[in-house]
Formats: sequence, structure tokens, C-alpha cells
Amino acid sequence: MEEQLSVWFSQNGRDLPWRRTRDPYAILVSEVMAQQTQVDRVVPRFERWLERWPTVETLAEASPADVIREWQGLGYNRRALGLHRAAQQVAAHGWPSDLTELPGVGRYTADAVACFALGRAVLPVDVNVRRVQERTGHAFTAAAAQALMDLGATVCVARIPRCDICPLAEGCPSRGSRYEPLRKQGPFEGSFRQRRAATLRLVADAEQPVGDLDPDAVASLARDGLVLVADGTVSLPG
Ligand code: ADE
Repeated sequence: MEEQLSVWFSQNGRDLPWRRTRDPYAILVSEVMAQQTQVDRVVPRFERWLERWPTVETLAEASPADVIREWQGLGYNRRALGLHRAAQQVAAHGWPSDLTELPGVGRYTADAVACFALGRAVLPVDVNVRRVQERTGHAFTAAAAQALMDLGATVCVARIPRCDICPLAEGCPSRGSRYEPLRKQGPFEGSFRQRRAATLRLVADAEQPVGDLDPDAVASLARDGLVLVADGTVSLPG
């Protein structure tokens, strides 16, 4: 199966900027950005981020406020602070042998950096990789990681997989299956997440009087360290 996948990937794989580097910092940035954000939207933001902060050391020296502003629109702003703290930790102490010691780095992200940057034989299992493995019943090796991510994102998709064009269809026990929508995220519109995001955006543009803002959103952002409240004013940290 892995051979068919490899042939398919050489013809259909996406040309993504983080596939042209083995720099662990760049890979880490791409993986944190790609968590819950569509790859098409990540690409231009990844390139801009790397132009602004090309190394761990440059990111480590940035202010949290600039990091939060540069992250605007990528969603889940806490990830930006985690990435910043991770860069500070690496700048001070080097890369830990256990990458999950870094803030915001879980099993998947650690394995992705180990595989794509360090060339270690670990398969990073994200939702796409897991889906392809479960449907095919095949245990792929680390060499198939990027191909599995693309197959899962474009062919072996969650609900109505495109088995007609799938390189693994022959011999796939799940060929032709359809799937019910699983855990669907609630609408962003009108959600507390949206209120938080809107509040942070206002503060990122300019500090705000606390009385002008959504108090629950401010409290939640302050708990996460994304804003500071002092003397009746809400501002970005640092
Ligand atoms: N999503 C997360 N990591 C990815 C990668 N390396 N390639 C494509 N999509 C991804």
C-alpha cells in the first residue's frame, strides 16, 4: 500500500513551504499554525511569520504583544503564546530531547517535528493520518507521513471519501463507505470564542477602557495571559 501511496504523492502531493525545510523551528511554527486552521490559510501566514522571525532566537526576543498581533486571524490565540514560550525555552536551553516538554507541544506536534525536521522514524498521527490507517487497516511507516496527510485532506476525507480516485482503493476494506458527520464544532458565530476573538482584536489594535469591553471575554483572556488589565485599561502583555 505504501508504494501506491508514494506514487500518488509524487504526482498529487501539495507543494507546501514547510516541506522545503528541515529547520525544526520552521516545522514547529507550521504544525502549531496548522492545528485547527486550514492549510491554505496557513501558507501565507507561515511565510510572513518566518520573514519576521526567521529563528527561534528572534521569536524569543519578540514581545508577547507583537506575537499576539501577528497571530490575529489564525484562531486559538493561546497557541501563539505557547509558541512564543517554546521559542524562549529553546533559545535559553536548546531543544529538549523530549519535545513535549515545550509549552503547547503535545504528542502529535512533537512527533511531527521529530519526523519532518529530525528525520526520526516516528509517524505523527493527526486526524487525517488516523482516518486513513483505520479505514485501510494498514500500519504505515513514518516515510508516508506527508502523503497520508494529503490523502486524508483531499481524498480519504471524513464523510464522503473519494474512493474513485484513491490510490489505495484496491484492497481497502472500507472502499465505498459513507460516514455520518462526527463531532461537529458548534457555530463560531455568536459563540464565546467569537466574543473572545473580537475583544482581543480590539485590544490588539489599541488599548481599551475595560468598561467598553465584554467583561466575560476580558476575564477569560486575562486568565490565559492574552491581555493585561490595569488601571481600568486593557492592553496586550509586554
Ligand atoms: N497539517 C498539519 N501538518 C501538515 C503537514 N505537514 N502537511 C500537510 N498538512 C498538515
